[in-house]
Parts: sequence; C-alpha cells; structure tokens
Amino acid sequence: MAIELKKVSFSYPNGFEAVHEVDLRIEEGEKVAIVGQNGAGKTTTVKLMNGLNLPSSGDVLVDGINTKDKTCAFMSKYVGYVFQNPDDQIFNSSVRKELEYMPKYTKMDTKEMNRRVERAVELTGIQKYIDSNPFDIPYPIRKFVTIASIIVSDPKYFIFDEPTAGQDLHGMKQLGYLIDELQKEGKAIITITHDMEFAVNNFTRVVAMAHKQVIKDGTREDTFWDLDVIRESRIKQPVIAELAHDLGVDGNVLFCDELVAKL
Ligand SMILES: Nc1ncnc2c1ncn2[C@@H]1O[C@H](COP(=O)(O)OP(=O)(O)O)[C@@H](O)[C@H]1O
Ligand SMILES: [Mg+2]
Repeated sequence: MAIELKKVSFSYPNGFEAVHEVDLRIEEGEKVAIVGQNGAGKTTTVKLMNGLNLPSSGDVLVDGINTKDKTCAFMSKYVGYVFQNPDDQIFNSSVRKELEYMPKYTKMDTKEMNRRVERAVELTGIQKYIDSNPFDIPYPIRKFVTIASIIVSDPKYFIFDEPTAGQDLHGMKQLGYLIDELQKEGKAIITITHDMEFAVNNFTRVVAMAHKQVIKDGTREDTFWDLDVIRESRIKQPVIAELAHDLGVDGNVLFCDELVAKL
C-alpha cells in the first residue's frame, strides 16, 4: 500500500506549471520530509496526494485508487492534509466544535468520536484550549488544532505542511512526540519543512525539490550529504553535518554522537 505519483505535472488555472513530471512513491508507515526553497512546488505536490489538486497529466494513486476517480472528501479518509496556514482550514467557533465537525458530519458513534477527540487532544497538547475560539488562541497552538482535527479523521497518511513555523522548543517537542506516536500506530508521516534540524531528527527519508521537480530522493544521509543537491535546492545541511563537513570528517555524519565517535 502506497501513495504513488506517476509522471505527474500540474498547472494552475492561470497556466503556470508548478510541478513537472514528478515520480514519487511513499509507502505505508514511512516518515518522509520534503525540503527545498520557496516556490519549488512542495505544497502543490502534496496537495496532489489527496486530490486537492488533480494532475494536469500523469496519475496519482493512493492504495491503488486514482485521485481522478474520487472526490477530495473521499480521498481525505486516506490522506489527511494539514494546511500550511491554519486559517485556511479552521472554520468552527470553538476548538471542540472544530474537532467534532467531521465525526458529526459522518454520523460517527459518539463513544468513538469522544475516544478520537481525546486522543487527538492528548497528542497535540491542546487540553487547555478545548473550549476556546480557535481565532483567539496563539498561531502555533492554532496549528496544533488543525493537526488534531486531522488526527480525529484518522487517515492512513498524514501530510504536515510547514508544521514548525512559529513553534518554540515546547511546540517542537510536542511535534516530535505526536509524530512518534502516529508512526507507532502504523501511519505514514509526510512533512514539508524549512527546518533541517526538524527533518533530520524526525524523518528517515528526505526528498529534495527544486524547479518543479524532485532532484533527490534518498535516506537523510544520502540527501543531506549530496552537496550538489544542497546547493541546487538552496537548503542548508543540518548543523552537525555542516560541522563535520568543515572539520573534514567523512562518513555522512548527521548526529552529535556519530561526530564525537569520529573525532
Ligand atoms: N494558486 C496559484 N496560482 C498560480 N500559481 C501558483 C498558485 N499557488 C502556487 N503557485 C505558484 O506555484 C509555484 C509552486 O508553489 P508551491 O507549491 O506553493 O511551492 P512551495 O510549497 O515549494 O513553496 C510557485 O511559483 C507559486 O508562486
Ligand atoms: Mg509551501
């Protein structure tokens, strides 16, 4: 079972092509970070995975289902997309209503709804805000509300678009925790991020995008030590890699203990 992009191109209604002939396959249960400079086509690509964008050419299959054959609402049972900007996603007047919206809409059993909401609230650490208006709470917390509402819908594949934006150390730890917990449940986690420390610490596979295409798809070691890719996708190596590079240490080091062992 997997998400498969097969030679997918996508143009916006104004004719601008944002993604060009991308091939990408993400298996069930994987943890994948997508990196690359602004405008590379990352958000456009992940929105192709749940039918928010439909390919202009090529096909996207989710567990064998072609996104062209189904509605976005149907696909979101498989692939949950957390928007880059929480305000594009939230529309209810309290956090609880936001989290209960999908279960109520689908007439889910109340006990099951309560179980899912409780779990989502625990994973995202938003207990304190459950009765608040989402628009009255700080931006980073609002981001956790959008993550919680996707957790409630219980998809198999999660997509987080820039989840670290505005997060402090506590928020970063919460994100690491919920990613671990979701992966233990067998979920795939796909994230777009500008934060290479977040990428290296939480994701084992790193896909680099530049100029509408995937220019590298490999393990975190492969991608973060491909200096041509680093340059072309305008990202930085994670700090330990950069330090190892400056010190002339070889062996694709990414973590502190590895570096210490080499010195
Ligand atoms: N609705 C849109 N209409 C036209 N062009 C768009 C639209 N959304 C994004 N783009 C353009 O598509 C390109 C890729 O955007 P995006 O996928 O958001 O990149 P990234 O997430 O990597 O920053 C950018 O040049 C952006 O300006
Ligand atoms: Mg983006």
